[in-house]
Amino acid sequence: MSLKTRCQPFARYVQSAKNAGYYPYFRPLSRSWGTEVEVDGRRLIMIGSNDYLGLSHEPRVMEAAAKALRRWGTGAGGSRFLCGNLVLHEVLEERLAAFVNKKKAVVHVTGFSTNLGAIACLLTPQDVILCDRENHASIFEGCQASRARLIPFAHNDVEAAAKKLASIREKKSQSLILLITEGVFSMSGDMSPLPELIRLKEEYPDLLIYLDDAHGLGVMGPGGRGTVAHFDLTSQVDFIMGTFSKALASVGGFIAADDEDVLEYLRHNSRPLIFSAALPASNAATVLGCLDILEQEPERVERLWDITRRVHAGYQEIGLITGDSKTPIIPIHIGDDLKAATFARDLFEAGVFALPAIFPAVPRGQAVIRTAYMSTHEERQIEFVLETLDRLAKKHRIRATDLAGREPFLTKDQFSSQSLRV
Ligand SMILES: Cc1ncc(COP(=O)(O)O)c(C=O)c1O
Repeated sequence: MSLKTRCQPFARYVQSAKNAGYYPYFRPLSRSWGTEVEVDGRRLIMIGSNDYLGLSHEPRVMEAAAKALRRWGTGAGGSRFLCGNLVLHEVLEERLAAFVNKKKAVVHVTGFSTNLGAIACLLTPQDVILCDRENHASIFEGCQASRARLIPFAHNDVEAAAKKLASIREKKSQSLILLITEGVFSMSGDMSPLPELIRLKEEYPDLLIYLDDAHGLGVMGPGGRGTVAHFDLTSQVDFIMGTFSKALASVGGFIAADDEDVLEYLRHNSRPLIFSAALPASNAATVLGCLDILEQEPERVERLWDITRRVHAGYQEIGLITGDSKTPIIPIHIGDDLKAATFARDLFEAGVFALPAIFPAVPRGQAVIRTAYMSTHEERQIEFVLETLDRLAKKHRIRATDLAGREPFLTKDQFSSQSLRV
């Protein structure tokens, strides 16, 4: 089969969705004000961004980035291993480690490459990885690259994880076992049952726990210090991974731990760290600026939670189905793929920007509109969004009363593990 024959059906499918007017992805934003964006000359309210604290447009953060750009230039000029390791990277590692209360941290150029590089270099084919099925694609890529035995467990199902753990220990008494989960899941907005997962260590003290807190950092816990701080379990989690691409308003990622030898090994063996150019100075300075603001103004996190509670209540009043979300990520269950795409198109026409997750990102018949809120959303914007959703939910018949008797929404283990995640 030629490459063209392989790709053409997909390209035709995309083109037909574009022709029919309901292809929603890769929309070019011509401007952004954070909570509002300009597309095709129209200004829309953004309810899909991961910039949870709105810091990407905070003047002090922008100034810190601009200053670093003037001092260090636009690119680092090489890998951190060779010529691109800036003082800023090291300062940032210290600040991040202190922020999440771990001894050390290692910064990578993206969150994706942090997971990929760390998991791939720490695990070997003799080891076993227990992985929540809803974990991010970068985690699964890391697992695959490590060639460790990958054992997925049903989403947030501690009992399933415990059973699998017992059976691994029975068969492979010497293997290193790493359990990987996320603090806040990126699509469903639900939280990991971290205390219960950690309790597995009582029976299996050598179990290692790796928490991807991409969506928990800046959102969960006192002052946004993350999901482990929220549960006050920092010392029990062996690895905390975070990204700069969400609440920290930039790109990049890090992994933090208390074992300095392990992190030294990782620093010299994570392939994306050694073989990718370093994070540009302006991005590192952005994150430092965000950490300053988080430390000085924890009320920004509180405001995010006020808005989150307000929107959850508003969705409930409208009758929307939102699964187990208790966070600023709130999926709206639609069901049918085409209906979700049409709903998103109507939202767009009405002046609200949010995207659908359809098959294969979610199982067939389980399409959602992923909405996410920011601490900088204003009351007038929230009111407008809720009024619009109310009107469109009636029009498209997606309220709980409309969907009664249909398949339940997002039952455990329904998302496919290798799906698209944001
Ligand atoms: C849970 C999770 N982990 C990792 C990543 C990758 O992070 P980044 O966008 O910084 O590469 C993402 C973001 O898409 C994510 O949602």
